Amino acid sequence: MPAKRIHRVVQLLLAQLLLVCAWQVQASSISGSGAVLAANCANCHGTNGRAIGAMPALAGQPKAYLVEQMRAYKEGRRTGTIMHQLAKGYTEEQIEAVATFLSQQKR
Ligand code: HEC
Repeated sequence: MPAKRIHRVVQLLLAQLLLVCAWQVQASSISGSGAVLAANCANCHGTNGRAIGAMPALAGQPKAYLVEQMRAYKEGRRTGTIMHQLAKGYTEEQIEAVATFLSQQKR
């Protein structure tokens, strides 16, 4: 392989490495935003979803359950006093992120 060609291959490999790094940074900032989003729920559902009193606890609930409830509220399939209004303000990505975070919290 001529030197120029090797140089090009190395360049391509480096570019791919950079892409992987960028992707990882993005992935970790998305999981970080789950924690930020969960702070919006804390007033009612407790810090990190650990509810005190009669409020439903979100911490440690299965992710699929949380996502489904949020979608049901959002789409009007489940009614409530407040959640059907609140859920409308969250995108599908935000629901995924907050549900991932809450499902990973200790009950
Ligand atoms: C203003 C208070 C309030 C806030 C803020 C709030 N919730 Fe709720 N949530 C409730 C109430 C009250 C219920 C019971 C259903 C109802 O009356 O709407 C509930 C129910 C739920 C349920 C159903 C629980 C179950 O056991 O089925 C989920 C899931 C949920 N909330 C998720 C969230 C998430 C995620 C957030 C933050 C993005 C959030 N809530 C923010 C008051 C709140």
